[in-house]
Amino acid sequence: MNKNIAVYPGSFDPPTNGHLDLIERGSKIFDELVVAILRNLDKDPLFSVSERVAMLEALTANYSNVRVDTFDGLTVDYAAKMGASSVLRGIRALSDYEYELQMALMNRKLRPELETVFMMPAEKYSYLSSRLVREVAQLGGSVKGLVPELVEQNLRGKLDPAYKLAEFRAPQAEKSESRKSRPRKKA
Ligand code: PNS
Repeated sequence: MNKNIAVYPGSFDPPTNGHLDLIERGSKIFDELVVAILRNLDKDPLFSVSERVAMLEALTANYSNVRVDTFDGLTVDYAAKMGASSVLRGIRALSDYEYELQMALMNRKLRPELETVFMMPAEKYSYLSSRLVREVAQLGGSVKGLVPELVEQNLRGKLDPAYKLAEFRAPQAEKSESRKSRPRKKA
């Protein structure tokens, strides 16, 4: 029997608990789920594609039927290449609907045999987006409970303004000590 394969495409910059919630739901209804990160050269992402792959691989390691990949070009072409019959997307609120409907219908026009399957993440993540997580973290707010701990740590390593402020205020000796233990900021 043919495997029921779905592609879950997105930017995942960074992956949130909402994405993870959807991956878990998707892993239950599809035989195989491919989490596919768009390699978009136009965007200026916070995390590089390889950083996002590493995070998603670690976060989905417990699901035997989930794997992580990257793609460019059209989602429908990538889905066909992977032998997928469905594209999985999350809908959080009514505001997502118009954009998702447009995308699903365009994808249907391009490849009618590919179905878009919408799933709703848990209510507690219904306001959550990668963009808001980036903004809150960049401005020093807490994203605890909104992203997995691994993502929180990586965000802290990249951005933590409170950390930088504390370091600025710290006496010289502490400063050099803290620098040793501090994760290196990526270029
Ligand atoms: O997480 P995002 O940024 O909402 O994901 C958007 C994504 C990657 C699903 C969408 O931009 C996409 O499918 N891009 C690939 C190019 C493509 O197929 N464009 C036509 C879509 S109708």
